[in-house]
Amino acid sequence: MRTVNMEDTVKIFKSTRELAHFFALKLAAGIRETPESRFFSLALSGGSTPGVAFEYLASNFREHIDWQKVWLFWGDERCVVPDSYESNFRMAEESLLVHISIPASNIFGIKGEADPVTESERYEAVVRQHIPSKHGIHQFDLMMLGLGQDGHTASIFPENIHLFNSDRLFEATENPYNKQKRITATGKMINQARSVVFLVTGESKAEVVARIIKKKDGWEKLPASLVHPQNGQLLWLLDDRAASLLNL
Ligand code: 6PG
Repeated sequence: MRTVNMEDTVKIFKSTRELAHFFALKLAAGIRETPESRFFSLALSGGSTPGVAFEYLASNFREHIDWQKVWLFWGDERCVVPDSYESNFRMAEESLLVHISIPASNIFGIKGEADPVTESERYEAVVRQHIPSKHGIHQFDLMMLGLGQDGHTASIFPENIHLFNSDRLFEATENPYNKQKRITATGKMINQARSVVFLVTGESKAEVVARIIKKKDGWEKLPASLVHPQNGQLLWLLDDRAASLLNL
């Protein structure tokens, strides 16, 4: 692993497995350090690399993490039924939840089957009710994020980058390519987190990773470029292929 100290911390791994192991260690440490008096709030992401991290946690950290201390949320969800192959909840359930000992009462899923606007309001209320707030700021302890080739993250696409200026914590939106309705954390929710971790692998992401991290070619129009936790840490976990155009 190589660490590059830039404005944000960028860690580059030879393999997805090494990346997933580093993420698991970071998560386990954060949970261990959480005071007994409260839960550790983890916001999960959809996407292929987060999915690999779930599988790694299920295989290697089942017993190393006290999952009873963890509250699980989602940073975004597709508006589909929970057993749809497109559901982020289903992906997490199959790759992680069924393999760990976590009470159902610790799992706060976004109801993809509900009316998007109504559900975004309900989910925001659930987050406000459960996540501790500091000066009115509700902070997830850790938010996992993936990165799309177009620079989207969570379900904030370039076409709806205004969601970084929303006063809401969650909003209904849509995937502009297939018009699929989505519910997503807004920029306000993301940038309030104590720790935000991007998990990005593969050659196909190299160009967008370089645009964002090296602030090139219209980087400011990419939603993932606007992720800067105001009182928290931003960590990029990349494999060599996704980092290949950083020339580090
Ligand atoms: C989703 C995710 C989305 C994802 C990126 C990267 O619901 O799809 O929240 O933001 O993380 O699209 O996905 P891949 O890693 O599969 O390219």
